[in-house]
Order: sequence, then C-alpha cells, then structure tokens
Amino acid sequence: MHQSVDHPVLQHKLGYLRDKQTSNKDFRELTSEITMLLAYEALKHVELTPVEIETPIAPMTAQRVKHDIVIVPVLRAGVGMLNSLCTLIPTAKVGFIGLYRDHDTKQPVEYYVKLPPITNNPIVILVDPMLATGGSTAAAIDLIKREGFSRITVVSIVSAPEGLAEVESRHPDVRIYTAAIDDCLNDSKYIVPGLGDAGDRIFGTT
Ligand code: PRP
Ligand code: URA
Repeated sequence: MHQSVDHPVLQHKLGYLRDKQTSNKDFRELTSEITMLLAYEALKHVELTPVEIETPIAPMTAQRVKHDIVIVPVLRAGVGMLNSLCTLIPTAKVGFIGLYRDHDTKQPVEYYVKLPPITNNPIVILVDPMLATGGSTAAAIDLIKREGFSRITVVSIVSAPEGLAEVESRHPDVRIYTAAIDDCLNDSKYIVPGLGDAGDRIFGTT
C-alpha cells in the first residue's frame, strides 16, 4: 500500500527542494521540514495506550504511544531525514543501513547494518528520500526483516512508479508514504523529473 501526501505546505517546499538553484544548506533544511510533514502522516496509524496522570487541576486518562519506534535511515541520503524524525519522536531508537547503488548494474550493495534489539513489538520507520528502481528500499526491508522486525513503514520524499511497484510486489505488508510519485526513470535510473542525486545535494558532494 502506498500513499502520496499532497498537503499544500509540503508541496510548496518540495518545489524548492527539486529546484537545481537550491543551495546545499537550503536542501538540507527543506529535507528536514518535508520529512516532518511526511512523518506526521505516516505515524497516523500508531496505536496508543491509556495512562493515568494528574493535571494541575484533576486526574485524567491520557494517551501514550504503545509500541517502540525504531527509525532506520538508509545511508547516506536517509541521514538527512533523521533529525526531524528524532525531534518528532524523541524516545525513538535508531538503526542504520548502508547501501549504495552500483554504478553499472544499479543494484544495491550492502555495506553496513546496525539495528537496535527488538523490544516492545516495535514499528520501524525506514527513511530514504529517493525510491527510484525500488531496489535499495526493498533490500533494506529484506535486511530489517532478516533481523526479526515485522512492522515496517517507509517514508520517501520522491518515488518512481516502477520503484513503488517493485517494493509493493516484494513487500506487500509494508506501507509507503511519499510526497511525490514522479513520471518515470531515465536511462541512468534517475527519477524524472526528480531532484537529482539526493545524497550529493544533502552532503555537498557534487
Ligand atoms: C540513492 C538513494 C536511495 C537509492 C535509490 O542512494 O538515497 O538509497 O539511491 O535508488 P533505487 O531505488 O534505484 O535503489 P545512492 O545509491 O545514490 O547512495 P548515497 O545515498 O550514498 O549517495
Ligand atoms: N538516487 C538519487 O539520489 N536520485 C535518483 O533520482 C535516483 C536514485
């Protein structure tokens, strides 16, 4: 299942993110702001549990998030989405998955995996700004499931239709939230119109 989040404030910011004139500094800030808005929507299904508290006026039953949340950015570009998720969910644990797309084959190559222990039926929020062929996201989900996690939500900023189809066919149980579903991939497997290379624009490596 995938959902495109079309909130006008998010779409306004996405236009600036895509613009090739946008500086690395602004790109990083926009990535964080867009992630915050996307995550707000992606966390809509999180379950709550009642807790008894006292306000300064009276006792009441308040609500707390029931399960642990684990944020997993895909290195490198997913790191640009991490801070705003940690701001939104300060109690979240964080894992990392290192993948890069091989230049020739465009297939994901794994180079790092570090996930926290599984506690309290956790929900994993997998973050990567780009879902192009879908190979990296699908491989990251394979790795997360291999480590024993089962409840996974993907937050991506720009997706290609081919990539969404790939991830959904390999992982039909995973929810994907994205700010845009673009037209297609080019011969180099970049998203069109997309925003270019997200990692390079976040880290200033072009
Ligand atoms: C980018 C992006 C995704 C992947 C998407 O990473 O951040 O992880 O490509 O492409 P796919 O859907 O076709 O697999 P990249 O391989 O450029 O690594 P980087 O973030 O380290 O630059
Ligand atoms: N990775 C990116 O950073 N951008 C794309 O368009 C495709 C893969």
